[in-house]
Amino acid sequence: MLGPVILAASRSGSLRRAVSAAPVTKPVVDRFIAGESVEETTPVVRSMAARGLEVTLDVLGEDVTDPAEALRARDAYLRLVEALEPLDLGPRAEMSVKLSSFGQALPGGHDLALKNVTAVVEAADAIGTTVTLDMEDHTTVDSTLAIHAEVRRDYPLTGAVVQSYLFRTEDDCRALADAGARVRLVKGAYKEPASVAYQDKADVDKAYIRSLRILMEGAGYPMVGTHDPRIVAIAQDLAYRAGRKPDAYEFQMLYGIREAEQARLAAEGHRVRVYIAYGTDWYGYFMRRLAERPANLAFFLRSVVSR
Ligand code: FDA
Repeated sequence: MLGPVILAASRSGSLRRAVSAAPVTKPVVDRFIAGESVEETTPVVRSMAARGLEVTLDVLGEDVTDPAEALRARDAYLRLVEALEPLDLGPRAEMSVKLSSFGQALPGGHDLALKNVTAVVEAADAIGTTVTLDMEDHTTVDSTLAIHAEVRRDYPLTGAVVQSYLFRTEDDCRALADAGARVRLVKGAYKEPASVAYQDKADVDKAYIRSLRILMEGAGYPMVGTHDPRIVAIAQDLAYRAGRKPDAYEFQMLYGIREAEQARLAAEGHRVRVYIAYGTDWYGYFMRRLAERPANLAFFLRSVVSR
C-alpha cells in the first residue's frame, strides 16, 4: 500500500528539496548508488568484475527540461565510455539509459532522444559493448520501443526493457522475442493507472511469468531483471525447459539489493549483471527503491529519527 503513496509523493518539489537536503539522507542513498562521479564508480565496476559479475551502468538523470541538458546527459555517457575503455571488459560492462534524460519528452523529443542515444550506442559499440534502453512510465513505451527498433537496424544488440505490470507487455514480448532482441523483463517501478496496468502484486507476478515464458521460448536473449527468489527459480526452470544453456540468458539485479543472491547465482555458473547507478541526480531513482520495499522506508525514517 505504501509504494503508490511514495511514488506520488516523489513528484512533490518541496519533498525533493527536503529529502535531498536532509543530512541523514546520504548514507541511505549510498546503499543504492555507487558514487557521485564516474571516478568513484569505476573501482566498483572493477571489483564486481573480479567477483565474476557483469554490470550495466546508469548515469542518473531523467526528465530534462531543455535540449542543452539532454546534450549534457549524452556527454556524461560519452565520458563513461571513455572511462570503461581501459577496463577492457567489453560487453561485461554495458550501459543503461533513460531516454527522458536524452530529451524524449521535449518538443521534437523522439528525434532528439534518437540522435542522442545513437551517439552513445555508436561509442559503446566502438569499445565492444552495448546499451539497454530503460523503460519509464507508460506514456513513453511506444516512443521508446520505436527508438529501440530504429537503433537496432545498425546496432542489433541494443537492449529493450518491458514491464510486466503493463497489460500490453505480453504482446511486446512476442514482438521482441520474434525479432531476436536482448530484452530485460522487470515488474515495473512507476505509478500507473488501472486502465493500463495490473494493480495487485499477485497479478504483476503472474504476468511476469507469462512474459518470461514467451521470452525464454523465443529467439532473443532474455535478461531476467528481478530480486524475487520465486521468479529466479521459475526462470531457471523455464530456461531449462526451453533448452537454453546458462549463457543463453542472464539475471539482472540492482546494486545494493540481494548481493548474496547475486554472488550465489554467479557461483552456480549463471550470468549475473548488476545495475549500477551513479551521479548526483539520484532523487527519482532513490524514491523508486523506497517505494519498492516499505522496509527501506522504515530504515530511512529510523535514521532520521535516531539523530
Ligand atoms: P519484488 O518487488 O516482489 O521484490 C522481491 C524481493 O526482492 C523483495 O522481497 C526484497 O527481498 C527484494 N527487493 C526488491 N526491491 C527491493 C528494494 N528496493 N530494496 C531492497 N530489497 C528489495 N523498472 C522499470 O520500470 N524500468 C526499468 O527500466 C527498470 N530497470 C531495472 C533493471 C534491473 C536490473 C532491475 C533489477 C530492476 C529494474 N526495474 C526497472 C525495477 C523493477 O521494475 C522493480 O521495481 C524492482 O526490480 C522490484 O521488483 P522485484 O522484481 O525485485 O520484485
